[in-house]
Amino acid sequence: MRTHYCGELNAKHIGDTITVCGWVHRRRDHGGVIFLDLRDRQGLLQVVVDPDTEEAFATADRARSEWVMQITGLVRARPEGTVNADMPTGEIEVLGREVKVLNTADTPPFQLDEHAKVGEEVRLKHRYMDLRRPEMLENLMLRSRVTTFVRNFLANNGFVDTETPVLTRATPEGARDYLVPSRVHKGEFFALPQSPQLFKQLLMVAGLDRYFQIAKCFRDEDLRADRQPEFTQIDLEMSFVDEEAVMGLTESMIRELFKTEMDIDLGEFPRMPYAEAMARFGSDKPDLRIPLELIDIKDLMASVDFKVFSGPANDPNGRVTVLKVPGGATISRKEIDDYTKFVSQYGAKGLAWVKVNALAEGVEGLQSPILKFMPDDVVMSLIERVDAKDGDILFFGADSTRVVSDALGALRVKLGHDLNLITHAWAPLWVVDFPMFEDAGDGQVAALHHPFTAPTVEPAALKAKPLDALSRAYDMVLNGTELGGGSIRIHDQGMQQAVFEVLNISPEEQQEKFGFLLDALRYGAPPHGGLAFGLDRLVMLMLGATSIRDVIAFPKTQSATCLLTDAPGAVSPEQLKEVGVRIRQDKTESM
Ligand code: AMO
Ligand code: AMP
Repeated sequence: MRTHYCGELNAKHIGDTITVCGWVHRRRDHGGVIFLDLRDRQGLLQVVVDPDTEEAFATADRARSEWVMQITGLVRARPEGTVNADMPTGEIEVLGREVKVLNTADTPPFQLDEHAKVGEEVRLKHRYMDLRRPEMLENLMLRSRVTTFVRNFLANNGFVDTETPVLTRATPEGARDYLVPSRVHKGEFFALPQSPQLFKQLLMVAGLDRYFQIAKCFRDEDLRADRQPEFTQIDLEMSFVDEEAVMGLTESMIRELFKTEMDIDLGEFPRMPYAEAMARFGSDKPDLRIPLELIDIKDLMASVDFKVFSGPANDPNGRVTVLKVPGGATISRKEIDDYTKFVSQYGAKGLAWVKVNALAEGVEGLQSPILKFMPDDVVMSLIERVDAKDGDILFFGADSTRVVSDALGALRVKLGHDLNLITHAWAPLWVVDFPMFEDAGDGQVAALHHPFTAPTVEPAALKAKPLDALSRAYDMVLNGTELGGGSIRIHDQGMQQAVFEVLNISPEEQQEKFGFLLDALRYGAPPHGGLAFGLDRLVMLMLGATSIRDVIAFPKTQSATCLLTDAPGAVSPEQLKEVGVRIRQDKTESM
């Protein structure tokens, strides 16, 4: 139906007769001459139709926004003074000779260039219109180039693209499962995979040696700007490897991708132990573009007369720390109140502060609501510890280690953005040496990654002091986002059982839920390890997008619904009966 895309025509085509197809982006009537801006995937093209070509003119005159047209005409240079240097096709126009309407369109629910005003709900409801916008098309095209790059890279490195089931059993990655009732086995349910974790390990037992998959994963969890209930992983696994092999290969994949697609050199990724990341940045995915760090002052606060500080300072699970903001003394009281509210979302009960006005005057040169609780020598040791200068502000966190790290870690990132401290570089890193478990309260522990991650110690040591054990896991972090995570896995049945035991999973439950894995580990499982990237997050970061929804063709809303299809939806009583499911009437109670 066409000879060219609209967006690919340029001065080289002057004098050619061409046929293009596309949507009417804009129609203008300029005193007897009609201009149609025709749009397709590749861009915009200006078509001029004059009254000499009577039939074409009449058709062009009728055309409206978003009608679908086929136009044959002559490519010519634009008249002097009308060249548009901002448009790839801006040097030329097409003199339309044959103009055909392929389809009409109702008045669009929003003008494509006014999407920002209409809000995301309207955009998601009419997603097929929203995706006509050049920015959205470009997002999807970049995503496609990324998956093509990844497929080629991994295939060239000997990886076998293998699909794993979507109707399966629970795969514990820390979220709730999406369940699918079985019609054949009433009362029983499939779970959609939170990741292909167990299947990829079984493929290593099978001898596939190197596996990858662009895999859909499903997690019923609270959604945020960088989370979707249904998302895509670049999932891979390798046999007979150590950490270096997996990290080396995946790091070079990301480095080459950024070089090829964006001409950005990410350099070698630094590595940072988890403990250091938490101590300096209060986060296991630190944004290293922000030049602010936490400085612990627990030892200085042990005997001050301020319970808020001395309490956590004397508690082994407590943390007392300072976030120093150079030049931050200009932050107003109102702003401090707002930051106090901000940290309260993370459980912080307050946000003490000290403004350093004139150090030459000693304690007199400081301004703060808390200094009255501390002897002068403690205050001056504090100033020395954090190396404060005139004009700085110090923010304090004192609470359990978790609350302080979460609150001040998040405040650090917020201040970095608010005060424009971000150096515009890319800051990738590996976070390594994760603990195997974290304290889940009530004497229970939980796996920090997933329970198939290999610890660095033997089973006996693991069982004796689980919270002291480190794992062989690694996370790739870019600009404060966890881009991917993985580990060397357990390939020994005894070790796997020890981990289940520490997690308080009874032998019966182990057998019921993971019997197939434990069996497989007895039949010659090779040492293996791997990693999974979040594809959506990767593309989002490459584009500098702020919402994960902008890189997914048909995303779900924050409340996990699809506005386009209205899913999830009710089903008929017959269908429910068929799968043996009855809806409880007290809907609120069952929620
Ligand atoms: P993990 O749970 O860390 O590891 O997931 C790997 C990566 O997937 C992305 N991701 C998400 N992206 C969008 N929405 C979500 N809800 C979401 N959840 C996770 C993140 C994350 O780094 N089986 C292991 C991997 C392994 O050990 O090989 C796993 O799934 O970018
Ligand atoms: P208060 O004695 O409650 O008035 O608190 C004095 C100052 O300490 C105020 O600036 C509070 O915001 C701050 N503050 C209170 N609790 C904490 C905490 N857990 N961590 C840091 N600052 C706190």
